Amino acid sequence: MSEDRVYIFDTTLRDGEQSPGVALNAATKLAIAEQLARLGVDIIEAGFPQASEGDFEAVRSIAAHVHGPTIAALARCHDADIEAAARALEPAEHPRIHVFIATSPVHMQAKLKLSPEEVLARVAEKVAKARAYVDDVEFSAEDATRSDWDFLVEVAKTAVAAGATTINLPDTVGYTTPEEYRQLVAHIRRGLNNPAIRISVHCHNDLGLAVANTLAGIEAGCRQVEVAVNGIGERAGNAALEEVVMALVARRDQFRVTHHIQTQEIYRTSQMVSRLTGMVIQPNKAVVGKNAFRHESGIHQDGMLKDRRTYEILTPESIGVPQTLLVLGKHSGRHALRQRLAELGLSATPEQLDNIQKRVKALAEIKSEINDADLEALWQDEVQGQKVEEAELVTWQVATGADTVPNARVVVRFRGAVREAHGVGDGPVHALFQALAQALGLQGVELSSFRLAPVSPGEDGLATVTVEVRGYDHETAGQASDADVLKASAYALKDALGLMARHLLARGIVA
Ligand code: KIV
Ligand code: ZN
Repeated sequence: MSEDRVYIFDTTLRDGEQSPGVALNAATKLAIAEQLARLGVDIIEAGFPQASEGDFEAVRSIAAHVHGPTIAALARCHDADIEAAARALEPAEHPRIHVFIATSPVHMQAKLKLSPEEVLARVAEKVAKARAYVDDVEFSAEDATRSDWDFLVEVAKTAVAAGATTINLPDTVGYTTPEEYRQLVAHIRRGLNNPAIRISVHCHNDLGLAVANTLAGIEAGCRQVEVAVNGIGERAGNAALEEVVMALVARRDQFRVTHHIQTQEIYRTSQMVSRLTGMVIQPNKAVVGKNAFRHESGIHQDGMLKDRRTYEILTPESIGVPQTLLVLGKHSGRHALRQRLAELGLSATPEQLDNIQKRVKALAEIKSEINDADLEALWQDEVQGQKVEEAELVTWQVATGADTVPNARVVVRFRGAVREAHGVGDGPVHALFQALAQALGLQGVELSSFRLAPVSPGEDGLATVTVEVRGYDHETAGQASDADVLKASAYALKDALGLMARHLLARGIVA
């Protein structure tokens, strides 16, 4: 292990995917994982295999197809979790099982109902169990920053004695501050006194301190940082990969550490994750926001013209902001399309490629140039659109206006039968929702979220609609892109409601 290298552990596909409203299928996760490998991350946390069949499949497919980085899978200190992680990781070149248990008084008492001694015994037993499957085991002390520091040293020593090689100290609830975290990391390093063990940090952003805390961890000697692209993750998210990495680049004089990130891949990765998750990037977001390199005031513009270094500490080129977008138009052939998709790390079956090509041609009728963002949105639609095959939207109409009660008609093929339904609502999207819910035989469900985001600038561009539907203690999501926002809404709603119908049928709630 090189002394001054920081290992980048990306948790976009695990903690990031825990962002409310984000639901990625296995094909999309694989495409993101392939891009993360191009970005140069050292470890990809691919998911939590015991959480669901979908998570298991996604981890297994990433383990089988992504070469280079270590592939990690999360597991609680439970036999079933560790066994599922080990099975999902079987095809990986470099597998890692990431075992965790909470160590703070509130978590041990209220959630786990275990004494500190019982937690120590679990750590010893379950880390050893994970180690029997793989050589690379990471142990995380959940809620480390609200745990007793000496107890944490004992927990870390127990995990190391049982075979863990990385010890992670998560700030699970985003509670710590840079100075406190620096001292905590230093305390654990001193207590462990074992340079062969890599200390890791994992910071949540509840107080907006995730990146600052992560950098403080590096200053205190941790050599793995757990981060997510665009800072997505539970609640306020995780430390943003691009912010941590670019701080290490811009302030190399201060941090004096190296990393293996190809920074020119940052922008593309950020755009891809935003589009595929439906998590929009705020314009003033550090490093990757739309305004990150724009200079509005006259004084700043003047300074930039004289010497860019006056107001620019990072260049757009350094993170790979494309100077010219795109290439494809209505005359582009199948070969060019396949090649561009491959360059973007997106694979498609011959049938999917045909459908994407048809949509590229249709879009080219209204838009002179189709850029990478458009193409990725169409790819996503085609690949993710497969997910509710048993509910097909045959046709739809919607009417609204100054003197019209918004109303919709849909025809759906569902489980072999063709069903027509009508709905009225407060607006056209609501009317479509009512009609589709009725056609799929659903009652007691509500549209809990509707998001509309342009895929690329310009009035003739595509827009992506992301919807969430809630009912019976369950939530589903759907996403679709089109130049017609009502059409995108209809398809996104069809998928979200189709997933809900599938779930309620499986639970016997609807017949
Ligand atoms: O925030 C947290 O504590 C986690 C652990 C499972 C590593 O995500
Ligand atoms: Zn976390």
